[in-house]
Amino acid sequence: MFELSGKTIFITGGGGGIGGGMARAFAERGARIVLADLSPDFAQEEAETLPPGTEVLIVKLDVRHPDSWQRAKEAVAKRFGEVDVLCNNAGISTGFGPLLDVTPEAFENVMAINVAGVFNGTRTFAPEMVARRAGHIVNTSSMNGLTPFGSFAAYSASKFAVLGLSDALREELAPAGVGVSTLFPGLTRSRMAQHDAAASAADDPERAAMIEANMMDPLWLGRAVVKAVQNDEAYIVTHPAYRDSLAARQQRILAAFGEPAQPGYRHGASATRAPAAASSGIGGS
Ligand SMILES: NC(=O)c1ccc[n+]([C@@H]2O[C@H](COP(=O)([O-])OP(=O)(O)OC[C@H]3O[C@@H](n4cnc5c(N)ncnc54)[C@H](O)[C@@H]3O)[C@@H](O)[C@H]2O)c1
Repeated sequence: MFELSGKTIFITGGGGGIGGGMARAFAERGARIVLADLSPDFAQEEAETLPPGTEVLIVKLDVRHPDSWQRAKEAVAKRFGEVDVLCNNAGISTGFGPLLDVTPEAFENVMAINVAGVFNGTRTFAPEMVARRAGHIVNTSSMNGLTPFGSFAAYSASKFAVLGLSDALREELAPAGVGVSTLFPGLTRSRMAQHDAAASAADDPERAAMIEANMMDPLWLGRAVVKAVQNDEAYIVTHPAYRDSLAARQQRILAAFGEPAQPGYRHGASATRAPAAASSGIGGS
């Protein structure tokens, strides 16, 4: 089991709802916390909610820029040394609306923060974890990274990308003893969730209040993340109510697996999978 006491946990979006919940949950285990956020003021607010005696460092970080990551890494090295757990959690929403109304700039920005941000963080801290043969990375996807719905296409695309990256990375880093987990939150109390809820139910106060009441307390997501890191779990599902919707989607995809498009084609080899995996049908090129 991954011992967390005295370990350094680097959380992007650490000034936000879910990042703050993670910080409190790791702090409950005696870890040292780095709250990295575009807004140091938000991070300061979260720092004030940590258990007394928690060692905490706030760093300003823009996950889109490798230089910003480098500066954050240097600041952490000075204060705590190396990072043991990296939580790539910062993310933005595009708000609900048709994909055709999303501007190229907004699409590029959601990908830069939600996807390239995860890549940049991994490039910054994974090499030293591999060298030490210890460490863990947690990437925040979403239920929208498993079961998308109309009016949230750009965001869902970014969260599917986080899952693809994380699954592949988990396979790549396992031989070095470094774990990778993906978190799939459903509705959770945060500035983002409250902003989106308020916008979507602007003319229906009753519905807005119902959505608000349905938001999970982020501390419980944090505790689920802690458990997953300790047990090296691949997937962290905090809102199981979405299970049927995921199963139905998987079923629709599996139903499309019929005969090969080319009559008589035999799947004998894959560029990326060992023969057993390829012939069992999980292979791809
Ligand atoms: N709250 C939910 O219901 C929900 C559901 C599914 C997934 N998520 C995901 O959880 C993660 C955390 O979101 P949240 O709900 O806590 O929202 P939040 O808005 O409270 O927190 C996000 C934090 O990220 C920071 N941030 C934004 N851009 C940044 C950048 N370029 N560099 C560094 N920091 C940046 C913000 O300042 C903010 O503090 C996101 O990846 C989000 O997509 C949230």
